[in-house]
Amino acid sequence: MISVAIDGPSGAGKSTIARRVAGELGFVYIDTGALYRSIGYYVLKQGKNPEKKEDVTGSLPGIQLELRHVDGIQRVFLNDEDVSDDIRTPAVSMAASQVSAVPEVRAFLLELQREMARKNNVIMDGRDIGTVVLPNASLKIFLTADPEDRARRRYEELLEKGETVTYEEVLRDVIQRDYNDSHREIAPLRQAPDAVLANTTGFPLEKSVALIRSLVEERLAGKDDGK
Ligand code: DC
Repeated sequence: MISVAIDGPSGAGKSTIARRVAGELGFVYIDTGALYRSIGYYVLKQGKNPEKKEDVTGSLPGIQLELRHVDGIQRVFLNDEDVSDDIRTPAVSMAASQVSAVPEVRAFLLELQREMARKNNVIMDGRDIGTVVLPNASLKIFLTADPEDRARRRYEELLEKGETVTYEEVLRDVIQRDYNDSHREIAPLRQAPDAVLANTTGFPLEKSVALIRSLVEERLAGKDDGK
């Protein structure tokens, strides 16, 4: 099986780009952030505090997660309920970042993610895919962009969805989540030594898609010369 790991900070466009490239090249796209989001969502829904470790670990036995692909689109099921849309709010983003620092949460999700990559040719996006989940991935990409660029994209997405937020709030959240994700003790966000760095600051979407697609195609063709 072929696996492409795409890691990077929030809002770098990983999911949009990975979904597009996977669709174009016939890979299954796996958005691992949706799994952490589902756990954050469940903890909040139970009226528990995602910042409290005991609240989070105490919630895990009540959680059953499954990724299903319908016409190439990933849907995430939490205890058999499709929560794919409910997990996209700013409150759930923050809760996901908080629960993702809990080692038991990461252990809980590890096998599920590896199982997906054993069964399919995947493009998997997350924070620790190249470093922890798929250390032997066929290709690792670290996809990033400046915080202001990422905040602007996320702000536009949220406005489109009708959320009432300001750019400043989104930028503050992006910076806070970057800090949380890269400073946690377990599986922090960092570039794997053998990952290719792709910085898409100022790139229109099509240019980012073309860049990532060409990296995957080069690797598939075995013609990667490190450039
Ligand atoms: O990619 P995203 O914004 O949907 O991810 C939500 C949160 O989940 C993010 O703050 C960090 C965490 N996460 C993680 O720790 N490891 C992953 N592989 C994917 C996401």
